Amino acid sequence: MRAMICLGFESSCDETGVALYCSERGLLAHALYSQIALHAEYGGVVPELASRDHVRKLAPLTKEVFAEAGIEWGEVDGIACTTGPGLLGALLVGTAFARSLALAWDKPFVGVHHMEGHLLAPLMEVEQPSYPFLALLVSGGHTLLVKVAAIGDYELISESIDDAVGEAFDKTAKLLGLPYPGGPALAALAESGDPERFYFKRPMTKIDHGEMPVNFSFSGLKTQVLQAVQKLTAVGEQDKADVARAFEDAAVDTLVIKCAHMMARENIYQLVVAGGVGANKKLRQQLKELAAARGGAVYFPRYELCTDNGAMIAFAGCQRLLAGESDDLTISGRPRWPLTDLEKPGVRGD
Ligand code: KG4
Ligand code: ZN
Repeated sequence: MRAMICLGFESSCDETGVALYCSERGLLAHALYSQIALHAEYGGVVPELASRDHVRKLAPLTKEVFAEAGIEWGEVDGIACTTGPGLLGALLVGTAFARSLALAWDKPFVGVHHMEGHLLAPLMEVEQPSYPFLALLVSGGHTLLVKVAAIGDYELISESIDDAVGEAFDKTAKLLGLPYPGGPALAALAESGDPERFYFKRPMTKIDHGEMPVNFSFSGLKTQVLQAVQKLTAVGEQDKADVARAFEDAAVDTLVIKCAHMMARENIYQLVVAGGVGANKKLRQQLKELAAARGGAVYFPRYELCTDNGAMIAFAGCQRLLAGESDDLTISGRPRWPLTDLEKPGVRGD
């Protein structure tokens, strides 16, 4: 089969990402613009501002990736764009841009599920898992543990019944007065925290009659943090670091305990970790140790491809386009879109 070059776009939240992926040569170029500075003063993503900023950035980033890859638009075989889940306005900006290019250049277009992009991102690396594997998807909007039998064949094992783990990081960080986005700032502060000072319970990890609750819950953890902070008469820098440390330990431990239990239950010791929280160093280290102790292995995307980016969308889109899949050019987005609605590449092809 001839190599396929896919141009991919990501604009579902606060990052504009564009990339060119080649099925033979790998990632040719990727460009990313983060809106962090834009949203920082509001303490979170402002959807309207996000949409407007994607409008400004998509065209220049697209020019950038073609220049970096040293190819012409005529060499592109297909176009992919995140069409959900995410902020509707932001999704519509990306899909309008991507579908317009597909129309103008007469190329096939395929809509990509944002979490499938994250899930497949580790498959761009040299070290590859074999099927079936478990995937821990941890971002600002999702906490999912999924059994992957093949691309597009996803069985949901666990999900959060309330806050996503990234959301818990962000809310705890906000409570401690840290800048948005909270996850990386909280992790950095935790490094100077005392691990013995506070202890937060690991939610939904208790084993009862050999069974552990299947799902995650992170809103209680946030409440435990709030109560600990309220008990302090004055909150100094060291107090904040100590709370951050206890929170990070509890959040990471919870994910690791659940992964260990589900690995044993499913008898699958290969684990893929993706999504923004997958950039957390402590989580990466503990999951590596867990998998190694059980004779398995854990696979991560490189750090820069853990958080939102266009490369993962170009890659996932490439797999689907190669299977002959394509979507029509109606400009639409799906803010809510269960990952398990997806099918194997080619099944919905026309
Ligand atoms: O995947 P992502 O970039 O966007 C979504 O699709 O949500 O994930 C962003 C989330 C945020 O909640 C952010 O605080 C968290 O990932 N995050 C981290 C770290 N880096 C990013 N959480 C903990 N530790 C980190 N190092
Ligand atoms: Zn994401």
